Amino acid sequence: MKTITKKLILLASGDGSNVENIIKYFKNTPNIEVVLVAGNNKNAYVFERVEPFNIETLVFTKSYFNNKFVNIIELYHPDLIILAGFLWKIPELWINKYPNKIINIHPSLLPSFGGKGMYGSNVHEAVINSKVKKTGISIHIVNKEYDEGNIIFQAEINVLIEDTPESIARRVQILEKEHFPRVIKEYLFKIE
Ligand code: GAR
Repeated sequence: MKTITKKLILLASGDGSNVENIIKYFKNTPNIEVVLVAGNNKNAYVFERVEPFNIETLVFTKSYFNNKFVNIIELYHPDLIILAGFLWKIPELWINKYPNKIINIHPSLLPSFGGKGMYGSNVHEAVINSKVKKTGISIHIVNKEYDEGNIIFQAEINVLIEDTPESIARRVQILEKEHFPRVIKEYLFKIE
């Protein structure tokens, strides 16, 4: 019986630690393959991280992203498009073309601390200023509004009195590494 390989496209804007973690996780997983890593900043560290893995990469500009990129994506026949630290809003055309097949990770417990401008340390500063007792990560389906699609998975940590945005970021990053690849794998088989 022929097994079909599931194809993942990863989009990232910056450091790319989640991208690297996802690539390493699936490197030795049969039937799941990262086929493309794409991003909007050619100087982003994510591209250095990807180099040793022999995976195709692509850098795009805003207009290219909005217009032509979806045609390129089509050539890869992705089963899932994963935003792993990607900061641009996904065009509606993509959402319609890949319904439920674009997912994002966000460093808070959505719907709290999501929306435009809410990324990285902005999120963790807002968490500290609001004096909430818990924060965490959300993995969700991407719809046409920032951070508003159905939530697939959340994991939480306590916010401690002595926490700073940096200390929260560190613990959130650990949660992301622990859960994101496994949640991707489970979701992939759910949408079959
Ligand atoms: C991650 O913490 C991710 O949750 C966050 O950006 C970071 C990227 O880190 N995403 C957002 O804030 C999206 N709104 P990485 O580049 O090291 O993977």
